[in-house]
Amino acid sequence: MCIQDMKEHVRENFDTSPAAYERYESQTGRFADLAERLEAAMRERQDGTLEWLLDAGAGSGASTRVFDREGRETVALDISGEMLRENGAISRIQADFDRLPFADRSFDGVAFTASLFLTPDPDTAAEEAHRVVRPGGTVGAVAPLGWTTADETDVFEQVGRESRSPTTADEIDAALRDHFDVVTGTWTFETTASNLRLFHAVPAMAARLYPRLDHEERVDRATELLEDVDGPLWQRWRWIVGTRGKGTA
Ligand SMILES: C[S@@+](CC[C@H](N)C(=O)[O-])C[C@H]1O[C@@H](n2cnc3c(N)ncnc32)[C@H](O)[C@@H]1O
Repeated sequence: MCIQDMKEHVRENFDTSPAAYERYESQTGRFADLAERLEAAMRERQDGTLEWLLDAGAGSGASTRVFDREGRETVALDISGEMLRENGAISRIQADFDRLPFADRSFDGVAFTASLFLTPDPDTAAEEAHRVVRPGGTVGAVAPLGWTTADETDVFEQVGRESRSPTTADEIDAALRDHFDVVTGTWTFETTASNLRLFHAVPAMAARLYPRLDHEERVDRATELLEDVDGPLWQRWRWIVGTRGKGTA
């Protein structure tokens, strides 16, 4: 499948997902938590203010609600019109973060909260982020590392399936490292089997397990697959923050 077709699939997947996505978020607050941590990590490495921020892959607004406060000017950008429709930001734009409709050096920072791993072409997105961030500004990304049981077994290995995203955390790290001075780490959250099921009740998330099935069928199959998973679980996310050097062209 070509890159454009893959992106079209991602857009369609998220266009069917706002209600289930918001259900997961209101139950767990996970994406708001990730955005808060990411923003703090960016501020720590920022040279100067973090006032003009691009929320790249803003979705229905969990990350935007975190960024768009304390007088900050946040632009919410997303490829999915239906996710963006639920986003309460004043500045919203439907676009692909691989082709940003902004002038060079327009922002103090670009944040990809759980979004950069969805592009099959992270190098182009990293290049674009570098172009629109001013020298001394930052880029931030979080990418999923998966779900494990108490003995660190991958949940999907246990249920006999692979859970795959278009781009891995290592690939994102490598793409950003080409343009920015990068630091990285891992955040681990204790969670439950019921949250794992709620996460995979989002059609765009169930697509990682059953990409070829239609939206309803893939959620049904994911629910069935995860029905017997039990006990406390751990969900891990990799964070990556890069600073644009002042000498960089
Ligand atoms: C898991 S959601 C995260 C949304 C939001 N940042 C949050 O924290 O709730 C990922 C979002 O990235 C968007 N996305 C995926 N690929 C994109 C692209 N190439 N350009 C713009 N947005 C994209 C999806 O449409 C989706 O809304």
